[in-house]
Amino acid sequence: MRELVYYAAVTLDGYIAGPNGEFDAFLVEGDHMAGINARFADTLPTVAAEALGIPQTREVFDTVLMGWNTYRVGGLPSPYAHLRQIVFSRTRTAEAESLEVTAEDPVAVVRRLKEEKGGAIWLCGGGALAATVADEIDRLILKRQPLLFGSGIPLFGDRPYRPERFDLVETVAYESGVVFTELERRRQGATTRDAGASILLSGG
Ligand SMILES: NC(=O)c1ccc[n+]([C@@H]2O[C@H](COP(=O)([O-])OP(=O)(O)OC[C@H]3O[C@@H](n4cnc5c(N)ncnc54)[C@H](OP(=O)(O)O)[C@@H]3O)[C@@H](O)[C@H]2O)c1
Repeated sequence: MRELVYYAAVTLDGYIAGPNGEFDAFLVEGDHMAGINARFADTLPTVAAEALGIPQTREVFDTVLMGWNTYRVGGLPSPYAHLRQIVFSRTRTAEAESLEVTAEDPVAVVRRLKEEKGGAIWLCGGGALAATVADEIDRLILKRQPLLFGSGIPLFGDRPYRPERFDLVETVAYESGVVFTELERRRQGATTRDAGASILLSGG
């Protein structure tokens, strides 16, 4: 079965953006950028990958899920045109042909996608959508940035207190101070072999 993977940049204090959606403090220069380009080219906006001459093979992700705020803040009508793009909104309609905007329950959409053939599903964010589909997340790949924001949009929005265990798969630390941490959900009776379409960071 396909996995739902929440892949996001997060501060040391657990924020994916500032209180007003600010993200300009995130480090976009440094050796971690080469790591992103090499391993997660599928998560680059299509125009950026084209400009940099980076091929996007969809080997890692072939579908991306975004909440409306995340889609809007990107400023591009079809940011990940190389992927199947699904945006959740109860109030808006599609702005580009290559984009599906839906008011359907995100959990139902995720469960249906998982039954389809394909690669892993990238949960791009933001916090509100992540909180809604939290129980469906199979894997976390967090790009922990060496920053404190103090306040902002939490990785999981306003998800209520409910501890859940994840197991470490791999950690890759970059000289920039950015640390990639990959974790998979611990499920009762499941082994790591049960996880389909998984992603392993390859170190370095
Ligand atoms: N650091 C990172 O890697 C990263 C990654 C992604 C996003 N972000 C940041 O996250 C911020 C946005 O996060 P956010 O928590 O404010 O918003 P969000 O989750 O991106 O979007 C929230 C919106 O999605 C729609 N939505 C949410 N739940 C829904 C549901 N159950 N059914 C249908 N539609 C639903 C609603 O839109 P309507 O009001 O239109 O119904 C809601 O207002 C941005 O600032 C972005 O920069 C950071």
